[in-house]
Amino acid sequence: MNPLLSVSMLSSDFGNLARDVQAVNQSLADWFHLDIMDGLFVPNISYGFPVVEAIAKQAQKPLDAHLMIVDPDRYVDRFKTMGCSCLSIHYEACTHLHRHLQHIRRLDMKAGVALNPHTPVELLEDILDEADFVLLMSVNPGFGGQHFIPRTLTKIARLKEMILKKHLSCLIEVDGGIDAINAPSVVKAGADIMVAGHALFKEGDVKAAIESFKNNTQPL
Ligand code: DX5
Ligand code: ZN
Repeated sequence: MNPLLSVSMLSSDFGNLARDVQAVNQSLADWFHLDIMDGLFVPNISYGFPVVEAIAKQAQKPLDAHLMIVDPDRYVDRFKTMGCSCLSIHYEACTHLHRHLQHIRRLDMKAGVALNPHTPVELLEDILDEADFVLLMSVNPGFGGQHFIPRTLTKIARLKEMILKKHLSCLIEVDGGIDAINAPSVVKAGADIMVAGHALFKEGDVKAAIESFKNNTQPL
């Protein structure tokens, strides 16, 4: 499968949100990545329901919501109602991860487990078959525009090996600090989906930045 690009709207211009959503609609990007932060699980507050609804109204590609919040299960139904197709919740934020992943799947969304940089992928041994994808954080969650943590590459490779050994179809999404330069090594390590925000929006012409990102990461 060709690697997918999920565009993090955290770095978009909220004063021109409709314009930026349209630019992503018209680009080669695959998904919209929506970062939800509560100021508790992570030391930052991003945006909430009204902004997700505004994006959902205009978006013509699947919505991939990443919940960086405590007790994420409280809002699973709400994200379904708002039109999300993929929903990831943090391993570190869930006492009953198994139940919550089943809840997401029951609502016909793709269920993702997100891992902070310090959490080993081996902890997923007994939960991997309940997840449609694993989101590996390649920065500490909370902020856009940080530097990629190189150690993530070995985590991706170790997780890929676990998935293959178990004959699962679980995908690997990698999130944080990805740009056109490091993206090929992220794909080579085994990533199926890459999230990028800052690297795309800082260019000004987000559509062109997405095009060159995609061209850099597709197999020849
Ligand atoms: C960080 C978020 C990421 C981030 C990715 O907490 O989960 O999705 O916005 O954006 P960049 O590409 O700016 O690191
Ligand atoms: Zn994210």
